[in-house]
Amino acid sequence: MPVLSKAAESSPQGKEQTVGIDDLAVYVPGLYLPLEGEFARSRGIDPGKLIKGIGIERMAVPDAHEDAATMAAMSLLLLMRRSGLQPDRIGKIYVGTESSADEAKAMGTYVIGMLEQVYGRGSFRECGTVEMKAACIATTLALESQSYWLAAEDEDKVGVVIASDVAKYPLASPGEYTQGAGSVSLLLKKNPRLLSLEQVYGHFTRDENDFFRPMGCTTAVVNGKHSNQCYLDAVTGAFDSFAARAARNGIIVPAASECVTDFLDHILFHIPYPRMVEYASAAIFRHDWKGCQRRLKVEAEIGPEPGEGDGKDAAAFQAAQADYARHFARSPQFLEAFAAKVKDTATLSRQIGNIYTGSIYLGLASLLELDRIQTGQRLGFGAYGSGCSALFFSGQVEAQAEDLPGLGLMKRLEERKAITLADYEMLHEGKREKSVVQPEQEFVLEGIDSQGYRHYKFVE
Ligand code: COA
Repeated sequence: MPVLSKAAESSPQGKEQTVGIDDLAVYVPGLYLPLEGEFARSRGIDPGKLIKGIGIERMAVPDAHEDAATMAAMSLLLLMRRSGLQPDRIGKIYVGTESSADEAKAMGTYVIGMLEQVYGRGSFRECGTVEMKAACIATTLALESQSYWLAAEDEDKVGVVIASDVAKYPLASPGEYTQGAGSVSLLLKKNPRLLSLEQVYGHFTRDENDFFRPMGCTTAVVNGKHSNQCYLDAVTGAFDSFAARAARNGIIVPAASECVTDFLDHILFHIPYPRMVEYASAAIFRHDWKGCQRRLKVEAEIGPEPGEGDGKDAAAFQAAQADYARHFARSPQFLEAFAAKVKDTATLSRQIGNIYTGSIYLGLASLLELDRIQTGQRLGFGAYGSGCSALFFSGQVEAQAEDLPGLGLMKRLEERKAITLADYEMLHEGKREKSVVQPEQEFVLEGIDSQGYRHYKFVE
């Protein structure tokens, strides 16, 4: 007999109507740069650092005819085709991006323009669209917001939330080896087939300078190490807010010996690079376990956590904390929890790199591709956006999730073309006009006119 997770045990008997993620589609460009070899040599970096220390093997690179809007249109087209969705069913398209090419015009209008080349002019005219910007958390805020609209919607409409980004840092900077590109489209519906949202959202926000892109700049200003710490602080704050709300709502009410993470079968974090989910997991498990029995077991292995009142000065206290964090991350309790609940979410990111606001949903795609999701499981999501804010929320896997067709991503990733360092650098700097691979059955950026309007077309 299968052992029920705590999430399945705590599910209400008579289920009411829910809203959530019905299906998703992922678009990844057809080009990639291997980080081992030429790239690592040219930057003077040990490949072990990139593959193990950062966790990325291949970086997805958009071709000369692609931008964030074409990728968004591609993931939406894939979604509509795989779920048989017609344009008149879509009530709203929200696009989360930090790669916008226009300061005013919503990316969704370009996306609709492209999709209407396939579905017919005017076919999306009753669909509302807005572009949301909040660094890597924009798509999650769009999802939260659209879920409330959907719950109140009384016609048979569905919503689409699109994440689309080109993660771009200056050449030879420490951010460069975390770059990537891609788009995820999420189909939101009442009584979804994949994941019912539990509508408990824990937020955390504070003003930070960890990562920002001033007007007119094509790459971000990054204070890398500081951004790691902001991420950890914000996700921990959002987790606490979520835990308190989930308890008040009666969704997760741990007994004295239990922790909140015992009720989460998988935890999906924002993935700027795969090692970051390891740091995030260590921070969250360590924080969550403080209040329960598990802490005693960890303490028996690695000793007690250093306290501020241990007679050390601030620098010594910080060093003791960092040392404890290293030991915690190697403890058997942590390694077991990480392997069971988090590790597999980063599988696709290792082959794609950072896709900014969609990377947390790339985590969901990873779990689906690896067949790691089962009916009744509860998924916890820890989204982060620089600047900075975090949002923690949860959803329960529906029975029909197991019947969804595969996403075919492993095959897509294998079929991509490896490019040389020279081609990558030309594409990065916008100096290559001719596509590396001739487009076929895809949207392309044809050109930008003298007014700055972008022209797109679908290439058969
Ligand atoms: N083999 C294996 N691992 C190695 C190694 C090697 N030869 N050399 C270094 N490493 C490890 C380091 O020990 C470290 O791991 P640890 O934390 O367990 O000690 C890891 O690789 C990262 O190296 P580090 O030197 O600490 O980082 P970095 O200077 O390369 O910078 C970022 C990493 C993320 C700060 C940088 O890529 C960046 O600015 N990225 C953009 C912003 C971003 O993604 N922020 C994240 C929050 S949104």
